[in-house]
Amino acid sequence: MGGAVLPLVIASVGVLLLFQILLRLRRGASVQGAVVVITGASSGLGRECARVFHAAGARLVLCGRDAARLQEVVQELGGNSADGRRQTFAPSTVVFDLARVDSVAKAAEEILKCYGHVDVLINNAGISYRGNILDTHMSVQRDVMETNYFGPISLTQALLPSMVQRRRGHIVVISSVQGKIAIPYRSAYAASKHATQAYFDCLRAEMGHLGIPVTVISPGYIRTNMSVNAVTGDGSTYGVVDKTTASGWDPRVVARAVLKAVRLKSKDVVLAGPQPTVAIYLRTLWPALFFKLMASRACKEQRRKDE
Ligand SMILES: NC(=O)c1ccc[n+]([C@@H]2O[C@H](COP(=O)([O-])OP(=O)(O)OC[C@H]3O[C@@H](n4cnc5c(N)ncnc54)[C@H](OP(=O)(O)O)[C@@H]3O)[C@@H](O)[C@H]2O)c1
Ligand SMILES: *[C@@H]1O[C@H](CO)[C@@H](O)[C@H](O)[C@H]1NC(C)=O
Repeated sequence: MGGAVLPLVIASVGVLLLFQILLRLRRGASVQGAVVVITGASSGLGRECARVFHAAGARLVLCGRDAARLQEVVQELGGNSADGRRQTFAPSTVVFDLARVDSVAKAAEEILKCYGHVDVLINNAGISYRGNILDTHMSVQRDVMETNYFGPISLTQALLPSMVQRRRGHIVVISSVQGKIAIPYRSAYAASKHATQAYFDCLRAEMGHLGIPVTVISPGYIRTNMSVNAVTGDGSTYGVVDKTTASGWDPRVVARAVLKAVRLKSKDVVLAGPQPTVAIYLRTLWPALFFKLMASRACKEQRRKDE
């Protein structure tokens, strides 16, 4: 009998690997001709997503606060063109500030005017934060929440009725590993991403019977200007390229994973290495150890600042 176990184990592992390979090979629906809205398209991951979705044939609406920087992206992507099987489209732009909730409803109207409907909304824009809670102004806590949470949910709610009416559409949000675990000196940011995760989890359940998928994507560090653009406790710009961000994932790799998640209508995707992945599980399965690790991380960072 003992002799039969090894082949059985090998066969099981083989089937599992084959299944994994098949899962990876799935391509899902095409985005050719789909109307895709990307917020924060002027920089970092959003700009990379613009490149990737443009090349895949999407009709883009690029959003940000800075018209000139968005125009640079439009210039780079170029006009309408068709090479045989793939057609690409010159992107449209809509300029607005997500932190000014009153401007978001107007922007949503402008977005809808571009092509008459939206197939995919990618809520990507966001701002990071560095600071300790004791020295952080309440206004900063609120500002980060406006940009990272109230802005995206306002835009989502403004565009949803037209999706529900057509029984078509797809809502995507770029959250963060920090939407699943909180690390010290990132309170405003981690809180805004936790809120994001919760809201879009509710939305997914509520949209299920309407056939509108909701995708939450949670990357670890990505090599962008995010830490440079981060806000600090007194509201000033951090302006530093953090080592963690500089050694993060290539934004092109993350953008391709976003395209894949859109095509497969994935529900929840974590894009991070083993360390953050283990931390996410630890937070649930062994919270006491997770809290100890975070406290020692906070001490270490404080000591480094005092030096
Ligand atoms: N980089 C990372 O390590 C990392 C890790 C996990 C998750 N993420 C998430 O990935 C997303 C993209 O970040 P990134 O790394 O690409 O950062 P980034 O290079 O700083 O880009 C942020 C984008 O958001 C836009 N934006 C910021 N505030 C805005 C506002 N009030 N209204 C409208 N647009 C605004 C910016 O456009 P304008 O300045 O032109 O308005 C810019 O295009 C964010 O949601 C971030 O939380 C990043
Ligand atoms: C970071 O900012 C610099 C200067 O504005 C810009 O040249 C560079 O392209 C930005 N990098 C990314 C990844 O957005």
